[in-house]
Amino acid sequence: MASSKALLELLQALWFILPAYVSNAAPVIFGGGFPLDLNRKWFDGRPILGKNKTVRGFFSGVVLGTLVGLLQFNLIGNPTPTASFLMSLGAMIGDCTGSFIKRRLGIESGRKAPLLDQYPFLMFAIIFTYLDTPLSLTKIAFLLLITPPIHLLTNKVAYLLGLKSCSW
Ligand code: CTP
Ligand code: MG
Repeated sequence: MASSKALLELLQALWFILPAYVSNAAPVIFGGGFPLDLNRKWFDGRPILGKNKTVRGFFSGVVLGTLVGLLQFNLIGNPTPTASFLMSLGAMIGDCTGSFIKRRLGIESGRKAPLLDQYPFLMFAIIFTYLDTPLSLTKIAFLLLITPPIHLLTNKVAYLLGLKSCSW
């Protein structure tokens, strides 16, 4: 009984956070072009965000994530349109925050950084969407546990499909 309740919570959490996942994945397909940091360097002489964080990628993430959320809302009534927009925006801001930290640590664009590649986008998505729809601690805990393996798996699939040049 307890385990089926836990499974239901996990599935509800995944359904809810789907726009943030879509937002995070969209730039792989629709990104590229003009870099968000205008090719500028930080005080440490390293790129602020790096060439892989582009304007098109950022906006494709916000738009696609929100659109998927609207579709979900039409199907079963959640997440709300506001939550979808907020978590998609949060995901993209979190993704850039992760890159900012990677650059400060001297990790080059596109190089793997366990946890920094998975958590900033998720945590910002959860915090942003909290303004509209607060998630329970159980659901947040499930998402923190399940997101790194899902991220690894989707990256492997994107690599095998030829969408990404590296498998992380
Ligand atoms: N991308 C983009 N614009 C964004 C985010 C991502 O164009 N705002 C594209 C880039 O082509 C990027 C790919 O999506 O290479 C994968 O994104 P991600 O893994 O988040 O970036 P990394 O290439 O790993 O770069 P970083 O080291 O800065 O995280
Ligand atoms: Mg990456």
